Amino acid sequence: MFLVFPDTSTVADYVSSTLINTVKSKPNAVLGAATGGTMEPIYARFIEKTRQLQLDVSRLTTFNLDEYVGLGVDHSQSYAAYMREHLFGHLGFNKARLHLPDGLAESLEEHCRDYSARMQQHGGIDLQLLGVGSNGHIGFNEPGTSFDSRCHVVELSERTRIDNSRFFAEDEMVPGSAITMGMKDITDAREILLVATGENKAPILAKYFESDVTETIPFTVLKRHPRARIILDEAAASLLPASVFQRAAAA
Ligand code: F6R
Repeated sequence: MFLVFPDTSTVADYVSSTLINTVKSKPNAVLGAATGGTMEPIYARFIEKTRQLQLDVSRLTTFNLDEYVGLGVDHSQSYAAYMREHLFGHLGFNKARLHLPDGLAESLEEHCRDYSARMQQHGGIDLQLLGVGSNGHIGFNEPGTSFDSRCHVVELSERTRIDNSRFFAEDEMVPGSAITMGMKDITDAREILLVATGENKAPILAKYFESDVTETIPFTVLKRHPRARIILDEAAASLLPASVFQRAAAA
């Protein structure tokens, strides 16, 4: 149910190895990409291993989970900039195959419809990476979002804006809204890896464990997914009973 590693570095080893195996077995795989602090060590390890193994990533297609409304690709806090800095800029990806929602799209509604449709045209996502918000959000699907939702515009909750303010300069406001893949877009993925590290994620992991599947804790939907794994470090797992998790060594 939960796979628990000693620390963030062993988590990064495991998740990056899973990504590498996907690329090896399916060089034209479609990956669902996440941003955020949790993913940084994972992408760093993936870059390192890809270089060591001289793996070709040019046939991969990626779809990012979300983007802030109002931030263009050149804004330092846009998720497009994050992806360039932490992953895309370091390896031989084919730019035409990298998809992110456009925070400056003229008609956001139309853009969202097109984004979900594009994912489906590419045959859906093979492996989706997810982080989780301290309120249980995945992508930017805040508590209460329908499990049937497709890509849409969302008003960010106060909790999420406070959590994400650490990435913005002191005098900068976290945008109030974002485009996100919907819950259905996410759960349509054939395989899902949700990663949570650090003690600030421990309370929401404990809630996940205690709760039934409910839209008020979005990531509980993973309990229904046939191939979803939850990867934690010891700190994030610290409020779970030890009997429900499997301790794993470094990859
Ligand atoms: C980011 C995303 C979010 C984050 C979540 C955790 O693309 O979709 O759901 O994964 O907010 O963020 P961190 O890793 O910064 O704690």
